[in-house]
Amino acid sequence: MAAELAAAHGITATVIPADLAAPGAGARLVADLAARSLHVHTLVNNAGFGTYGPFGTIPLARTAQEIQLNVGTLVELTSALMPQLIASQGIVLNLASTAAFQPTPGMAVYGATKAFVLSFTEALWRETEGTGMRVLAVCPGGTDSEFGAVSGTTASPAEFGKRQSAADMVAEAMRALETTNAPSMVSGTRNRALARLVRLFPRRTAVAVSDRVMGRPRVRAGQVASSVAGSAH
Ligand SMILES: NC(=O)c1ccc[n+]([C@@H]2O[C@H](COP(=O)([O-])OP(=O)(O)OC[C@H]3O[C@@H](n4cnc5c(N)ncnc54)[C@H](OP(=O)(O)O)[C@@H]3O)[C@@H](O)[C@H]2O)c1
Repeated sequence: MAAELAAAHGITATVIPADLAAPGAGARLVADLAARSLHVHTLVNNAGFGTYGPFGTIPLARTAQEIQLNVGTLVELTSALMPQLIASQGIVLNLASTAAFQPTPGMAVYGATKAFVLSFTEALWRETEGTGMRVLAVCPGGTDSEFGAVSGTTASPAEFGKRQSAADMVAEAMRALETTNAPSMVSGTRNRALARLVRLFPRRTAVAVSDRVMGRPRVRAGQVASSVAGSAH
C-alpha cells in the first residue's frame, strides 16, 4: 500500500509495524517516530477490534487486548503526540462507532470502549478549542471491512443494516472535518437518525432495543465457567 500511495501521489510513505494492543506500544511508537525525525500533523486512531459473544465466555486476555487497543493506546498516542499536534495546528481523528450511543449486549466491552472514545474525544475537542488543533470523533455504522471476521461474527452486530463502503464513510468524515467544527460525526443518514433517536429513549429501552438488533447470543450454564477457566492458560 505504501508503494501504491507513493507511486500514485508522489509522497513518501513509511510503514512501522507494531502490535498496538500491547501495553506501552503507543510510547514505543512515538519514540520510534522521534528516532526517524518524523513529525506528526494528523493522528488517526483507527486500529480497533471487537469481541463478540456473552461477556463471561470471552477469554479475559482477549478482552484486555481489546481495551488496550481501542482505549489505552488511543489515549497514549493522543497524549504523547499532543505537543506536536498543537504546535502544528494538526488533527486528531478518533474512530468511535454508533456502538458508542447505547450499551451493546453481545459486544458489551466493544460498545463500552467506543463510548469511552466518543466521550474522551468530545471532551478533548472542548479542552483544545482555540489551540488550532482539530479534534473529531468519527462514528461509523456498519461498514464493509474485516471487522466482522475479526470479531467472530459475520452477522454484524452493533452496526447493522445496510453497510457503507469504507470509501463513502471516509469521504463523509473528511467532509465533516473540512466543513464543520463539530466534536463528532455519524456517517450515514440512517445511522445519524438512529443515533439521535436512541438518545431520547430511557436507558432500559435503549439497551433492550440494542439487544434485539444485536441478536445477542444467550449465556448457557457451564459455558461461562469453562471459558473463563480456559482463559487462564
Ligand atoms: N467496520 C465497521 O462496521 C465499524 C463500525 C464502526 C466503527 N468501526 C471502527 O473502525 C476502526 C477500523 O475498523 P475496520 O472496520 O476497518 O476493521 P478491520 O478491517 O478489522 O481493520 C482493523 C484495523 O486495525 C488494525 N489492528 C487491529 N489490531 C491491531 C493491533 N493489535 N495492532 C495494530 N493494528 C491493529 C488492523 O491492522 P492489520 O490489518 O494489520 O491487522 C486494521 O488496520 C476500528 O476502530 C473499529 O472499531 C468499524
